[in-house]
Amino acid sequence: MAVIEINHPLIQHKLTLLRSIETDTKSFRENLNEIAKLMTYEATKGLKVEEYEVTTPLMRMTGYTLQEKVAVVPILRAGLGMVAGILDLLPTAKVGHIGVYRNEETLEPVYYYCKLPDDILTRKIIVVDPMLATGGSAVYAINYLKEVGAKEKDIIFMCLVAAPEGISKLLNNHPGVDIYTAKIDQGLNDKGYIYPGLGDCGDRIFGTK
Ligand code: PRP
Ligand code: URA
Repeated sequence: MAVIEINHPLIQHKLTLLRSIETDTKSFRENLNEIAKLMTYEATKGLKVEEYEVTTPLMRMTGYTLQEKVAVVPILRAGLGMVAGILDLLPTAKVGHIGVYRNEETLEPVYYYCKLPDDILTRKIIVVDPMLATGGSAVYAINYLKEVGAKEKDIIFMCLVAAPEGISKLLNNHPGVDIYTAKIDQGLNDKGYIYPGLGDCGDRIFGTK
């Protein structure tokens, strides 16, 4: 398992815009999807390719095509805010959905929905949620995928901001899953929010508060 913080200047610039309380819903959505697209470039660098013969206008040569197919699995709701950006780079990926929200008192994950592609076990799976706070939601979603047969080595977890507490929980529960994040923040506040973070990501994406 690896924890990869993607310290790219474009990502850090856009993440700072997302953190700002001044950023409105439209800009928030746009920048989140742009970051998701940039992160996908990095997170897919381990995908296998196979060789095939291609004819250019000048000669025949050996080229490459992607050997592995991908399923993107957003954790509802906020994970939806990164899907369009990921699909920009992986337009043939299938999309599954896992609905889990965090109980505001206990911070425990509460399950409410799941629909996955039939052939998900033949694909690399990118589980996506912008916020890895206590780690409860991510651990729950990956448990669910493992119960239907997915292997840790085929799962990548992609988030925007991660708290060290959430990273530890994910590492302890699913040690074979690679974590890609745009930033590891300081920690959690007394309400379980990532600090300094960017607030409630779902509410900021959907304008619900
Ligand atoms: C947020 C976020 C994660 C979860 C992270 O979702 O999108 O799913 O909290 O917290 P955790 O690591 O402590 O589990 P939320 O419960 O606010 O639901 P929403 O996406 O529907 O707004
Ligand atoms: N969920 C969010 O949306 N933000 C946090 O900081 C923690 C959990």
